[in-house]
Amino acid sequence: MNQTSNKQRRRMVLAAGATALTCGASVVLTRSCAQQAYPHGSPLAFDLGQLPSGKLLTLEWQGLPVWLLRRTAAEIGALAALEAVLTDPDSNDSLQPSACRNRHRSLRPEIFVAIGLCTHQGCAPALRGSDGFLCPCHASRYDLAGRVFKVGPAPANLVIPAYRYEAQERLVLGEEA
Ligand code: FES
Repeated sequence: MNQTSNKQRRRMVLAAGATALTCGASVVLTRSCAQQAYPHGSPLAFDLGQLPSGKLLTLEWQGLPVWLLRRTAAEIGALAALEAVLTDPDSNDSLQPSACRNRHRSLRPEIFVAIGLCTHQGCAPALRGSDGFLCPCHASRYDLAGRVFKVGPAPANLVIPAYRYEAQERLVLGEEA
């Protein structure tokens, strides 16, 4: 499959997968809210003091599992070395707020926020330490920024929801700065 076909496939799968997510508090995602195709709405505040380094916490928000991970400086530094083996290293064909379209896919490098559902068929990947995440269903792999590896069938990076910081250690899911 050539690069154009891969991109078309990623867009089709994202469009299909998006129907499982919500846009705003209750509206199912459609092309009409494609400008905000990542989940937002129903703000939920979280105190990051409960999140030690290296720990992954999962919140339920709008019926979705939302991951919060505090990455170490070494884990953040290691992200640069992986890009040749990633499907979409610059997140051009993945869903995230524009402020999170960067190497670490987050507002602040140390805090990673993502929807914990595989972009292949929606299984729940598991954290494998500093190696990233592995989906048990068909062995797709993601790095610690939720960027998918070329091996495995998942077509796009993990979805990043809207969020903002209300204070240094207080994050609000569902709203943008
Ligand atoms: S659902 Fe994750 S690899 Fe298929």
